[in-house]
Amino acid sequence: MSIHTFLKGSEDWWRQAVVYQIYPRSFADSNSDGIGDLKGIISRVPYLKSLGIDAVWLSPFYPSALADGGYDVDDYRNVDPRIGTLKDFDKMIDALHAEGIRVFVDIVPNHSSDQHVWFQAALNAGPGSPERDRYIFRNGKGEHGAIRPSELVSHFGPTAWTRVTEPDGSLGQWYLHLFAKEQPDFNWDNPEVREDFIHTLRFWSNRGVDGFRIDVAHALVKDLSEPLFERQSYDVSVMKDDGTDKLFDRDEVHKIYRSWRKVFNEYDPPRVAVAEAWVPANRRPAYASKDGLGQAFNFDLLGTPWNAKKFRKTIDYNLVEAIKAGSSTTWVFSNHDVIRHATRFGLPAGFDWVRWYQSQGTDPKPNNILGLARAKAATMLILALPGSTYLYQGEELGLFEAPEIPSDQMQDPQWFRNPGKAGSRDGCRVPLPWAIEGKSFGFGKKGSHLPQPTWFGDLSVEAQDSNPDSTLSLYREALALRKQLQTEESLTWVDHFFNRKVVHFKRQNGWHSITNFGDMAIKLPAGDVLLSSAPVVGRWLPANATAWVQTATV
Ligand code: GLC
Ligand code: CA
Repeated sequence: MSIHTFLKGSEDWWRQAVVYQIYPRSFADSNSDGIGDLKGIISRVPYLKSLGIDAVWLSPFYPSALADGGYDVDDYRNVDPRIGTLKDFDKMIDALHAEGIRVFVDIVPNHSSDQHVWFQAALNAGPGSPERDRYIFRNGKGEHGAIRPSELVSHFGPTAWTRVTEPDGSLGQWYLHLFAKEQPDFNWDNPEVREDFIHTLRFWSNRGVDGFRIDVAHALVKDLSEPLFERQSYDVSVMKDDGTDKLFDRDEVHKIYRSWRKVFNEYDPPRVAVAEAWVPANRRPAYASKDGLGQAFNFDLLGTPWNAKKFRKTIDYNLVEAIKAGSSTTWVFSNHDVIRHATRFGLPAGFDWVRWYQSQGTDPKPNNILGLARAKAATMLILALPGSTYLYQGEELGLFEAPEIPSDQMQDPQWFRNPGKAGSRDGCRVPLPWAIEGKSFGFGKKGSHLPQPTWFGDLSVEAQDSNPDSTLSLYREALALRKQLQTEESLTWVDHFFNRKVVHFKRQNGWHSITNFGDMAIKLPAGDVLLSSAPVVGRWLPANATAWVQTATV
């Protein structure tokens, strides 16, 4: 093992950090096998540095049969051989740390994959064994146990229970999987499960990892008493919001995170964590508390339409909630699970995502010019807010969703487990275009594991790198300015009483962000125009644009 470089500095570095999400299999392919890898990431450290981000978050790179894009983990303390080795991982951390970029990794504690040694042991050991107790096995109902234990649906398909074949060849027990059947849920009442994750957190922390993104953080503890939970939908609105829901967000889950916090605090600086917890908003502070994970994703803007009033309300609410937890909030428009925001903002509010995917992105047809204008404006808006911002690879290129992937090449279990009835998450996971031409637009020298659309080259890094008017240049300038201007975590709203389609706030140092949600140009206030997402002519900010203006502070 190499001697790791550890980044020191303030314990609070994460509070207003810009974190760039890398989906490793789709970032950069160093050996041209069509799959992105750690050496590919190392080769692009200069690019990451040029963006001006504070940290990267890597989606899972662990050994996996890829039933769910790597969120089905075979071995939590290793690297998928197709992606690299632990040695490559160490080199990658060192290369990033040398440029002052910190590293988050993804921890998937709700479920392992069905290839994990523990699940294989559970299958082989049979009912009632300690091996089965690490997962959630139940006998079926009915005379021969052929009826599943409950009518719970899974996220990706019709049922959350799958029946196993026992070692003697007979049909036997059922196991629980909230996601794909290749993702059996752990039993978090089992002390071995708890210990193993502590081991994993120390393993990566010792290798120099600075932070963790905790997958489905609200699902670990379940009430497994009879009658077993029945549920037909995972919609947050059907979840109880007082900690007593049988399936999600139970109060007991925080005991686990308190024990993790003790581990994080063994390090200098303490390791940080952010919860992916799709819970009612009033339940978020608990995950973000100082004795818990410390920060929780706020996904509210993912569903907020292009509307000034709604944006302002969402922002206000989240700033207040984060303070309650002693944390800072997170802003995010895109990630590996949702439609890219340059496309979303070009579609009518409330469009039907499933129908849109089923029509390969033609019904309705997005207005890409409008979508990109709004996406750039929205990104500048969140970059001016207090709190941390999560960017998703490719958004700095203004990439659109790529729903035209042929159905038989889709990889998302959601898509092919519900034929004709679901959307796909593959259209935002297509390998990045680095070059204008070439077999995979510079992703590698050969192909890419998901097909790239023909228009990708025009949005490539090469096409945008030295063009001052490109989306990439806008991101770089905005991130550089943000670094200089970032100040205390609060804002003051500036009301435009005669035009409610403006979101305008200022920070203590006179840094104003003004977003025009309307259809007509608006006059900017006095001060230096630092940057704008569309050209400002004679102090007029066009529709669907954001400008940053600096005024003198008194
Ligand atoms: C999270 C991940 C998603 C994955 C799921 C199951 O929501 O972001 O990609 O499918 O958890 O692990
Ligand atoms: Ca590769």
